[in-house]
Amino acid sequence: MRTRDVRWREGRAFSLAYNAGPDALAVAEEAYRRFSGENALSTDAFPSLKQIQTEVVAMAGVWLGATPSSAGFMTSGGTESILMAVKAARDRLLAERQIRQPNMVLPTSAHAAFAKAGAYFGVEVRRVAVGPDWRADVSAMRNCVDENTVLIVGSAPQYPQGVVDDIVGIAKIASDSQINCHVDACMGGVTLAYLERLGEKIAPWNLQVPGVSSISVDLHKFGYTSKGASVIMYASKHLRSYQGFVTSDWLGGIYGSSGVLGTKSGGSMASAWAVMHFLGDDGYLRLTRQAREATLQLASVIRSSSDFVLRAEPESTLLCFGAKDPQALNVFAVADELSKCGWYVDRQTPPDSLHCTVNAIHHDKIDWFARDLHNSVATVLNQRSTGNVGAYGTIE
Ligand SMILES: Cc1ncc(COP(=O)(O)O)c(C=O)c1O
Repeated sequence: MRTRDVRWREGRAFSLAYNAGPDALAVAEEAYRRFSGENALSTDAFPSLKQIQTEVVAMAGVWLGATPSSAGFMTSGGTESILMAVKAARDRLLAERQIRQPNMVLPTSAHAAFAKAGAYFGVEVRRVAVGPDWRADVSAMRNCVDENTVLIVGSAPQYPQGVVDDIVGIAKIASDSQINCHVDACMGGVTLAYLERLGEKIAPWNLQVPGVSSISVDLHKFGYTSKGASVIMYASKHLRSYQGFVTSDWLGGIYGSSGVLGTKSGGSMASAWAVMHFLGDDGYLRLTRQAREATLQLASVIRSSSDFVLRAEPESTLLCFGAKDPQALNVFAVADELSKCGWYVDRQTPPDSLHCTVNAIHHDKIDWFARDLHNSVATVLNQRSTGNVGAYGTIE
C-alpha cells in the first residue's frame, strides 16, 4: 500500500515526517510495538505510562526552560497541545473573571490549530496581521486585547516563514492583562534549545520569559519519535489544572482525562521515552547541527538562484521561498515537477510559496534537491506550466 507514498525514510519529504536514521527509527518502532496495547487513560492500571510521562515531561522541560513550579502533560501532537492551551486559558478566565464570551489574540502566522481550537471551544479568534518581517506585530496585538481576551499567542518559530516572534513583547501583554500566553514551540522547542547550546543567538522564547503561561513542543517532529507525541508545559500546576476534564455525571463512575483522547495508546509515549534516551543530548546536538547546516545550505541555494526569493532568513530549520517573478514562474508547478522526481515540499499561500521543513536526514541531500529544483524550474519555464496550491492537511 505504501508504494505511492512519499519516501520520507530516504529523505525525500520536506514536510510531515522526520528521520534521525535507521537506529533511532528502529528504537522508535520497537518501543511503539511493545507499548501499543497499553492504555494511558488509566495510569492506575498502567503506572509504567505515568512514569514515562513524568520522565518525558521532565526531559522536555529542560529544553523549554521549565522551573521547579512548571508542570506538563504529554499529548498526541501539536494540535492537541494547542487545543489544550486554548481550553486551559478559557477555563481559567471563566473561573477567575467569569468571562463568558472569550477571545484570543494571535498573529496571522500562528498555526491553523488555533482556529480549530477556537471553533471547538467557542473562543473567538482575533487574527492580527504580521509585520513586514513576518513577525507578530506586538503593538497591533495589544490593541486587539480587551476585557474578554483570555489568551495571547506567539510562535517559536511560526510555521509559514520560520521566524521567531517577539515572545518577550507578547508575554508582557499577557502579564499586564493577567491573561494566558501560549508559546507555540511545536516546531522549534527542540531545535532552538540545541541551537542555543551550539552557540547561536536566539531571542528569548521559552518559559523563562515572564508572562509565558504555557509552551508546546512536538516530540514527533524534531524529537524524532513516532507520531503521536507532544508535550505541553505550564508555568505552574495551577495553570495546568484547567487542562483536565472530570465528570461523574453518568452511570459509569468518575471519568477523568488530561487531554482530548480517552483511550490513549502507550505506543507513542514509550517511543518518545525510548528515542529521547537513545539520542540523548549528544544525539540531539548532532541532529540539530545537521538539520541547521542543511537549512543554511538550502537557503544559500535559494539566495543565489535567479528564479527564487527567500521569504525570510531561516531562524531554525524552516525555510520558505517564492518566485522572484510570480507572473513568469508558478511555484506550484515547480512543486509538481519536484514531486515527479520523488520530492515532497509544502505549498502555501498567501503569498504563493514553497515551504521546506528541513531535518537531519536532509544533511547530505541538498545538492541532489538543488539539481532537481533547477531542472524543475527549467521544465516549468519551458512548458509554461501552472500548478495548484494543494492543501497542508486534507479531509478525505
Ligand atoms: C508551529 C506549529 N504548531 C503546531 C503544529 C501542529 O502540529 P501537529 O500536526 O503535530 O498537530 C505544527 C505542525 O506543523 C506547527 O508547525
